[in-house]
Amino acid sequence: MKIGTALSNSATKALLLGSGELGKEVTIALQRYGVEVIAVDRYPNAPAQHVAHRSHVIDMTDTDAVKKLIAQEQPDFIIPEIEAIATQALLDIESEGQCTVVPNARAIQLTMNREGIRTLAAEQVKVPTSTYAFAESFAELQAAVNAGIGYPCFIKPTMSSSGKGQSMVKSADQLKAAWDYAKSSGRVDTGKVIVEAKIDFDFEITLLTVRALNQQGDVETHFCAPIGHVQESGDYRESWQPQAMSDAAIKAAQDIALKITNEIGGLGLFGVELFIKGDKVWFSEVSPRPHDTGMVTMVTQRQNEFELHARAILGLPVDTGMQDTGASAVILGGVDAQGVIYEGLDKALSVPTSEIRLFGKPEAFTHRRMGVALATAATVDEARNRAVKAATMIVIKPDK
Ligand SMILES: Nc1ncnc2c1ncn2[C@@H]1O[C@H](COP(=O)(O)OP(=O)(O)O)[C@@H](O)[C@H]1O
Ligand SMILES: [Mg+2]
Repeated sequence: MKIGTALSNSATKALLLGSGELGKEVTIALQRYGVEVIAVDRYPNAPAQHVAHRSHVIDMTDTDAVKKLIAQEQPDFIIPEIEAIATQALLDIESEGQCTVVPNARAIQLTMNREGIRTLAAEQVKVPTSTYAFAESFAELQAAVNAGIGYPCFIKPTMSSSGKGQSMVKSADQLKAAWDYAKSSGRVDTGKVIVEAKIDFDFEITLLTVRALNQQGDVETHFCAPIGHVQESGDYRESWQPQAMSDAAIKAAQDIALKITNEIGGLGLFGVELFIKGDKVWFSEVSPRPHDTGMVTMVTQRQNEFELHARAILGLPVDTGMQDTGASAVILGGVDAQGVIYEGLDKALSVPTSEIRLFGKPEAFTHRRMGVALATAATVDEARNRAVKAATMIVIKPDK
């Protein structure tokens, strides 16, 4: 494995498509190995752009704009951080063979659309999932629900993330509103929704799964300890590691994650989302990149999820071992304002073992994630208490 000198002709260059808080940590991890990092987003001063060597603002869903920038920067690695990307540009660039799309262009294409990844999981790899159907009209949706999916069920736009356009429907009279909401709030109107039967799980986890090279140069799959989390309005609020679960459930979860990531291929870290009930495990979805709930690994693992991603991408060995039991709690904007002020950092950091990350986003929204509180403790419960306590001590105010 060779690495050049950043900001010189020999530089090993990574171009991030999407420069949020996860990309910021990936940037730092790559820079620690001397990689030159270029951070791209649709708006200026995105979190990763604060720490990258340079940055660009482009419409990442515009195929020509993405291709032009890549031709200009000539990166060795293209690292997508978000789902809304012109995947055709990535497929074309990958086929030219000049650089590596992480983990590969097909993975980015498959996971940006719920139909792609769900069909692969349920029909090709044949892992357990919720019962589901796709619908292109309200009549089709009604027919699918009546034909066996039943209530309660989830309706989601096929192209959406962070819970956007998603709702849980408890009875027939709520179905039309859910259809209208999904149709109007997807990232891209594919004209399609997915309807899924609700899985009555005990808890849900993210199983961070790493595909990395071993000493022989072969791909090996490594698993982190399961991360438990709580979701509200389709977005994560708290996560912790490890989530206690039965040996049988762990084995089933790893088996599903192995099958899915084997099928996707490439090198890097994946966030495999799974629902657990007793010893039974269902696949939900997968991110071919670090996962927001995995921010907890910044205090729990020797190599956090961002370092694992950076190492795997560069062909370096990884270690998914834990150091501590810990938890994370998100810090939401609470206001709609630009250039906000953060108060209470001193109080938050007086909570034992706590750490705070403020992402430096130029604009706050009521439900936008602006930071995260992290803490460790002897037990998950205590770590969660500490993380939540620290998070609530941060007060975000408009700059007035
Ligand atoms: N079929 C389902 N059964 C039970 N809960 C679900 C189901 N689908 C989604 N959820 C809940 O909604 C959350 C967000 O759904 P998800 O499909 O992961 O959307 P997103 O891509 O926006 O993260 C999940 O983490 C889970 O808590
Ligand atoms: Mg999800």
